[in-house]
Amino acid sequence: MIDRARELDAADPMAKFRSRFTLPGGIIYLDGNSLGALPKATPDVMQRVIEDEWGEGLIRSWNDASWFGMAARIGGKIAPLIGARENEVIACDTVSVNLFKLIAAALQMRPGRKTILSEPGNFPTDIYMIEGLEAQGLAKQKLAKRGDLIAALDDDVALLMLTHAHYKTGEVFDMAALTKAAHDSGALVLWDLSHSTGALPVDLNAAGADFATGCGYKYLCGGPGAPAFTFVADRHHGSLKQPLTGWFGHARPFAFSDTYEAAPGIEQLQCGTSPVLGLAALEVGVDIIAELGPDRLFAKSQALSEFFLECIEERGLDLDLISPRSSDQRGSQLSFRHEHAYAICQALIARGVIGDFRDPDILRLGFAPAYLSFANMSEAARHLAEVLDAGEWQHEEFNRRAAVT
Ligand SMILES: Cc1ncc(COP(=O)(O)O)c(C=O)c1O
Repeated sequence: MIDRARELDAADPMAKFRSRFTLPGGIIYLDGNSLGALPKATPDVMQRVIEDEWGEGLIRSWNDASWFGMAARIGGKIAPLIGARENEVIACDTVSVNLFKLIAAALQMRPGRKTILSEPGNFPTDIYMIEGLEAQGLAKQKLAKRGDLIAALDDDVALLMLTHAHYKTGEVFDMAALTKAAHDSGALVLWDLSHSTGALPVDLNAAGADFATGCGYKYLCGGPGAPAFTFVADRHHGSLKQPLTGWFGHARPFAFSDTYEAAPGIEQLQCGTSPVLGLAALEVGVDIIAELGPDRLFAKSQALSEFFLECIEERGLDLDLISPRSSDQRGSQLSFRHEHAYAICQALIARGVIGDFRDPDILRLGFAPAYLSFANMSEAARHLAEVLDAGEWQHEEFNRRAAVT
């Protein structure tokens, strides 16, 4: 398969983008859906922002280096990746904090309704943020399995809140159908796009979505703890009231008024001071991913994961795939259930193939389309086969659990 892989790489118009990333020698990185790789341009940009803009420019850089408009500018660059207009997206806070703001805003926009509907097994922070508002007496959490979600949309549901591509299985929701069903029942819809943005096409406005948020540190390659982004459809900008009414969301932060007046546009989703260094790193990743565009990224992601499946089949591996078999229905990942998934993952990491383990028994391999090659797929499949065939995962060292897995 390695010869076929090399042919596919030679014919791949996206192959040249690999050179824009720092990819350590001897490593096959299948965890870009957790922390994206470092763009080679990022260190120079950071050095410039730190030494010139901060060191020399000092406070003047809020204006001179356009720090002030950075969050909205980067949001505008993320917008085409998710089917949004430029004025509907802003880079700020974390996904968790953005979820809090948007859930609370939805409750306020649907007076008399208290239920936030989601699915069991959604990413934990999504569920925890509902619980937090529940503990304040503001919300009521309801979880329904995928097939039961539409039936669960009763007249108390203020918000349907789902993760578009599931973090464990990669299974993708039909965004348009669920958004429509929620709207028909009078509810608003919030999509967590953490595992979608920069990997597969998303069309929030075609689906009529109300709100969305997503990670900056996964496929957008913004770096560890990069700011997240928030989308609010512009039809809601006039009526939305988000609860974290910090000064950066004020219409005139530098008027230092005693009373809060929300900014008229997407800026009202901000809370405190923009994290300029984090935004500077995020912008580098966003620029590369936006240059590639969602359609090319998705086509490559599908081709990579299909080729990986071919490679493991050719090696006679019969693994329990829990991701949808059709690449149209999954994000940029393949997840396999195995009793010894943890140890297999550790054995792969020891060989330089970095994937991840999701409790209790899932080996998750992410295929970040911007920088992976077909040769990576063939080599990763070879390593996986060797680990399994030789029972390498049985070594004691691979069965010791670390704090962060
Ligand atoms: C679906 C999903 N939502 C949210 C998060 C976490 O977001 P944050 O750390 O920005 O709050 C993750 C992190 O992996 C995730 O996978």
